Amino acid sequence: MRKIHVPLQENSYDVIIEPGLINHIDDYIDKSREIVIISDDNIPKTYINTIKSFLSNCLCLYVPHGEKSKSMEMANSLVNSLIHNNITRGCLIVALGGGVVGDLAGFVASIYMRGVDYIQIPTTLLSQIDSSVGGKVGVNTETMKNAIGSFKQPKLVLIDSTTLQTLDERQINNGIAEMIKYGLIASKTLFEDLYSLNIFDDIDKYIYQCVQIKKDIVVQDVFDNGIRQILNYGHTIGHAIEQYSKYELLHGEAISIGMMSMSIGTIFEKEIKKVLTKYNLPTSHDYDKEALYRYITTDKKANKNNLNIIMVDKVGKGYIKPIIISQIKERL
Ligand code: GLY
Repeated sequence: MRKIHVPLQENSYDVIIEPGLINHIDDYIDKSREIVIISDDNIPKTYINTIKSFLSNCLCLYVPHGEKSKSMEMANSLVNSLIHNNITRGCLIVALGGGVVGDLAGFVASIYMRGVDYIQIPTTLLSQIDSSVGGKVGVNTETMKNAIGSFKQPKLVLIDSTTLQTLDERQINNGIAEMIKYGLIASKTLFEDLYSLNIFDDIDKYIYQCVQIKKDIVVQDVFDNGIRQILNYGHTIGHAIEQYSKYELLHGEAISIGMMSMSIGTIFEKEIKKVLTKYNLPTSHDYDKEALYRYITTDKKANKNNLNIIMVDKVGKGYIKPIIISQIKERL
């Protein structure tokens, strides 16, 4: 078992990384509490059944899988279900699933009765190494990803890497893209391991390294006004591509193209292309550049004329660079 403490004063919590922890979840969750599991219709029933066998009185709410469920309408529907089931302020929401479920359930926890406790049990690689940690929760609108949201830290994050066994290769590589990002912005060794080793020989070690990097950054800038922005390497272009493709491209695939674009002209351009290709991640696109630019100008990360982009000149060291927004066009 590996444990990472996220020290955020009264909002501090632990991230537990332990293969098979779902099989003794009652060691981590107080089953005397009023528990609501929020999950999606794609989650393997065995996880639900195992968890329910420990938390027999819990209420389970399911949303359709996929990015479309990350909406105000779905948040509203979940809130209505909580009210309908007389769920009180003392409840504990358990987000069981990937990033969509984590962001949506966390958002509901942040608004229901002005905020209730929640924990994250992320079941995809992407959510285990990124979205479950750091407290960014929210939903999309038609035109903007994560347009509505809050910062609400979970009480606990439980990562069981055996859940990765049911993911297909595309979903795994979706998470690997974020691992590559961590390597580029913060750890040359991680980047090199991703290229030369089979990280699945010891996936928990790599999940731990990524969560450690994220934690170190989040605790310096929980509200994303400064250093936390380096976690957005490749995301300005990536988010535009994700939205333009109507989420046909997965998040990791879109940021893969974004990271490649940001690496053009660097000394590691060839290396990043090789690593992304090793994991079947795309490195180019033929989307309409003007349309992508329009998405970028409405991105949360932009203001009227300026944009902070994240650059990496040397693998393992990301930094923030303010630019005039139109300068991003040369990278599209
Ligand atoms: N996923 C980027 C962040 O949490 O800031």
